[in-house]
Amino acid sequence: MSIKIIGTGSYVPEKVLTNFDLEKMVETSDEWIRTRTGIEQRRIASADQATSDLAYEAAVKALEMAKTSAAELDGIIVASISVDHVFPSTACILQKKLGAMKAFCFDLEAACSGLIYSIEVAHALIKSNIKYRKLLVIGAEKLSSIVNWEDRNTCVLFGDGAGAMVLEKTPEGAEDCVLASNLGANGTYTEILQIPAGGSRMPASQQTIDNKLHYMTMSGQDVFKLAVNAMVSSCKEALAFADMPSASVTWLVPHQANYRILKAVASRLDIPEERVYMNVNRYGNTSAASIGICIDEMNRGGFVKPGDIILMTAFGGGLTWGSILLKW
Ligand code: UT7
Repeated sequence: MSIKIIGTGSYVPEKVLTNFDLEKMVETSDEWIRTRTGIEQRRIASADQATSDLAYEAAVKALEMAKTSAAELDGIIVASISVDHVFPSTACILQKKLGAMKAFCFDLEAACSGLIYSIEVAHALIKSNIKYRKLLVIGAEKLSSIVNWEDRNTCVLFGDGAGAMVLEKTPEGAEDCVLASNLGANGTYTEILQIPAGGSRMPASQQTIDNKLHYMTMSGQDVFKLAVNAMVSSCKEALAFADMPSASVTWLVPHQANYRILKAVASRLDIPEERVYMNVNRYGNTSAASIGICIDEMNRGGFVKPGDIILMTAFGGGLTWGSILLKW
């Protein structure tokens, strides 16, 4: 049994927040943000938009392209760290909005690696179970709701958006679009990228709110080094499994955290920069949404053609990481 991506969709909110806007909010500069991260602007959801609303817009587009009605979906997986509620799952909320009433639903939390984890899980479900033919996987984030807008170390980095894919089981004998994949994690680094409060470890209280502990905190330099090493070895493992040299990769699609991270990963894999898809300048880091937004832009923009080899790789809080080598 094999699978294929039959539709992609993405959505970013209308509101653009530029580096110059941020100069008025915290002590930063367009020059610092651009040279350290490559980010020029990011999108910010409106107060009445939750993560499921962003996911819905991306899902509708992916379903349209897949010529699939929501009622045909067997399952929905939403990857997010900025879920609508702790529970119920954002996937259940999305199910209702779409009318996908046959679908099982769950959220998957692997931070910025969430979409890679979700595709791996969906792939395994489709391949192992005769019941599941069409699954919707989405990375969706309203990170603006979990960012401390007074912390210049983090607030300049993140943006909102969603990227979706419809995966379908293909007929017997067809080629599987997933050539290789791997997931990884290292729980010894949980504290370098986290939201300290709001869970069972430190439930919400006046004190946690006063101390702004419901917002993301990050030790940027530690994350940077670990991110490059983990993505490079994960990509190498995927290429080795498929017995392919990095020269056969048409597009490297890394999680859009920081253009310096992307360049370092590409260079260590010997992949020239012109074969690295980047939109971090326009959207910043959208965590679980970033790879989905890239893939949809590439698909709709004619950047990919059948037979192209795409290497997606991500890294995020947990720590988590993973790579998927795809034949388009
Ligand atoms: O999505 C997956 C997880 N996230 C990532 O992968 C992000 C990984 N980390 C990074 O991308 C980078 O580490 C950052 C972009 C976060 C920071 O870049 P850096 O080159 O590692 O800078 P730094 O943290 O070493 O800070 C350098 C200086 C510091 O000042 P001092 O101590 O040298 O005086 C910071 O206080 O830059 C200062 N700084 C800023 N200055 C202006 C930090 N943030 C800002 C800012 N504007 N927004």
